[in-house]
Amino acid sequence: MTAEILQLCGLSPFLEQELQRRFTVHRWFDVTDRERVLAERCASIRAVVTGGHIGIPDVLLARLTALGIVAINGVGFDKVDVEEARRRGVRVTTTPGVLTEDVADLAVGLIISLLRAIPGSDGFVRAGLWLKGERPLARKVSGRRFGIVGLGNIGNAIAQRLVAFGPIRYYDPSPKQVPYAFAPTILELAGQSDVLILAAAANASTRQLVGREVLDALGPSGYLVNVARGALLDEEALVAAVLEQRIAGAALDVFADEPHVPQALRMAGNVVLTPHIASATVETREAMARAVLANLDAFFAGQSLPGAIV
Ligand code: 8YV
Repeated sequence: MTAEILQLCGLSPFLEQELQRRFTVHRWFDVTDRERVLAERCASIRAVVTGGHIGIPDVLLARLTALGIVAINGVGFDKVDVEEARRRGVRVTTTPGVLTEDVADLAVGLIISLLRAIPGSDGFVRAGLWLKGERPLARKVSGRRFGIVGLGNIGNAIAQRLVAFGPIRYYDPSPKQVPYAFAPTILELAGQSDVLILAAAANASTRQLVGREVLDALGPSGYLVNVARGALLDEEALVAAVLEQRIAGAALDVFADEPHVPQALRMAGNVVLTPHIASATVETREAMARAVLANLDAFFAGQSLPGAIV
């Protein structure tokens, strides 16, 4: 009998196949009678495999009494009660390093899409409107001042790409040895940026870091880009700022209550919206899958875990 694992969300075909080859997999998101599965399997399930955007609900963590590891297919562990896991002796792993480039690439793509209005231009051509006239002028990307919130691996990779476009500033709890200007507060950073990019981990100190005050400091010619987590942002304040044109626009890959996106945002013209796809490439999802499997294999072999958080 192979070890039992609980899979909390859909994963790449490669990862799902490998999990099924190695383990007895319970697909939580397909289960209709969850209470029955929990009652029958809660003392046998040894591992949970989940996405960074899902983590593990506290009630599930509490019910899985034989749980040994939560293996996250991603880098964010904000949806896992890490302290409770530590107390229970449950290991928590992520897939560090392998998705950095993709997230940074998407951030740059979103910036160009937003300022140059690429999605609208695509729709314009498809709808045959080019035959009737021209598109309104968009905004120039090169020469903008870029403000990065959180200069970790992802923030750094974004900065490396954006130096080709314009000056970089960053906000982080403390200054780093980098060739970019440091802003001691996010408010200052917003005031000195044309494009503010959120790239910090979600935790107690970054929760709702961006609200009305920061958006007003960014101002009517400023743009907000979020490739981190919805939790960093007061989404209602953002919707108001976008609709009232107190900022010029926003590009968002992450939202407060995924996959629900406020209707007002979906209707707004000056936004670009993507469904949390920053790490969603064939290459990166395969590398993430290998990292998840390495963590699980090491756990079941009693070896040290390459991507251990706890
Ligand atoms: C994924 C993520 O969307 O790494 C993270 O924290 O949010 C993303 O890479 C997700 O974890 C896919 O399962």
